Amino acid sequence: MLSKPDLRLTDKDQAMLAGEFGPAPQLAMRILVQMAQIYGAQELLDISAAHIDSTIYIGEAGLEYAERLAALGAKVAVPTTLNVSGLDEEHWREWAVPSDWAHKAHRQMMAYASMGAIPTWTCAPYQTPMKPAFGQQIAWGESNAIVYANSVLGARTERYPDLLDICCAITGRAPATGLHLEENRGGDILMELVDVPASLQELDVFYPVLGTLMGKLAGERIPVIANLGVVPTDDQLKALGAAAASSGAVAMFHIAGVTPEAPTLAAAFHHKKPSQRIPATLEMLTEVYRGLTTSRDDHLDFVAVGCPHFSLDEIRKLAELMAGRRRHPDDRFIVTTNRRNRDLAREAGYLDTLLAFGCQLTLDTCILATPMLDRSLRSMMTNSGKFAYYAPGMLDLRVTYGSLEECVDSAVAGRVVKGGDVWPV
Ligand code: F3S
Repeated sequence: MLSKPDLRLTDKDQAMLAGEFGPAPQLAMRILVQMAQIYGAQELLDISAAHIDSTIYIGEAGLEYAERLAALGAKVAVPTTLNVSGLDEEHWREWAVPSDWAHKAHRQMMAYASMGAIPTWTCAPYQTPMKPAFGQQIAWGESNAIVYANSVLGARTERYPDLLDICCAITGRAPATGLHLEENRGGDILMELVDVPASLQELDVFYPVLGTLMGKLAGERIPVIANLGVVPTDDQLKALGAAAASSGAVAMFHIAGVTPEAPTLAAAFHHKKPSQRIPATLEMLTEVYRGLTTSRDDHLDFVAVGCPHFSLDEIRKLAELMAGRRRHPDDRFIVTTNRRNRDLAREAGYLDTLLAFGCQLTLDTCILATPMLDRSLRSMMTNSGKFAYYAPGMLDLRVTYGSLEECVDSAVAGRVVKGGDVWPV
């Protein structure tokens, strides 16, 4: 029988475990202690923020868990944001979402909101006013958010699974392990770009491809990218991390000279040697680029963009591409974002352009988190590496991967139109 490692608990941890703070912190601490022992942590540490991924309704167990905590009077102890939910409360009736399912998804949303969490309903909490700071200890769920927090912001979080994330939020504590600790944040493998033109590196379409390749090569390890000749935008880094966390289990990456813990290549590796050096050639990237498309013809039922949730700047770019145009009547165009960004887009004047084009906004959820697509929608085009990676297996869709420009051009044409820009194939 395996012996459990010793876990040192503070007096306050012990008091929570004994029920002195009430039944909800007691339950949360009991789960947290069990999980900390499984992780091999020797102590817990204070966190100052949390992001909850258990908000998506995926069945009775998750709903029962949330409502049980809520009924016990659970309240979050630190500022806590909420991931996408299972329901677009404004638009779900326009889609194939069953009403019973919608009712339960709504109950799960309300349970988490009742715990005092901020109803952000987004998988991009790092693009809200709740963005964590460098060095901040946090407990975040949602793979793309985890990788962005660690890599781009230099905040510190492990990969928190559903159900454990809320235990951290209620107790304000997390296992002192993994990426919370400085010694575990150095790079493992070196991924060197070889012969990748700078003109390609500047394009948005490049980053989901690079991220997909990075995830395949790195698995759970921390990759360090070298020879990138440009400084990616926040949205490009978002797309890079989301794809890497999909095709692999990347929770952190470094880009030498770009990300905060990698001012130099040596610093990224904590002045140690990489365990492996892997070239990332244009040929390898092109193979990944092609592999993200599973559709074999130019048939198109709908376009979906906004994975991770579209930022205001991405909505602005989309509005520029859509101005004065209209989608083909046989196709649909879905933009997934959250209600805050929708409101900001309305104030900025972008929303009217999107609606005039024939866009449908899906708020606070996405096509993978809510059963909105009926069987008539089989051929999708997307600019998202994460949607392209998961949609064939999870939703049985045929996917074409392309740039945002190509997505808009295709929606206008009513069929897949490629080659408007960019990839040098
Ligand atoms: Fe967000 Fe859904 Fe993509 S949760 S990261 S839009 S799969």
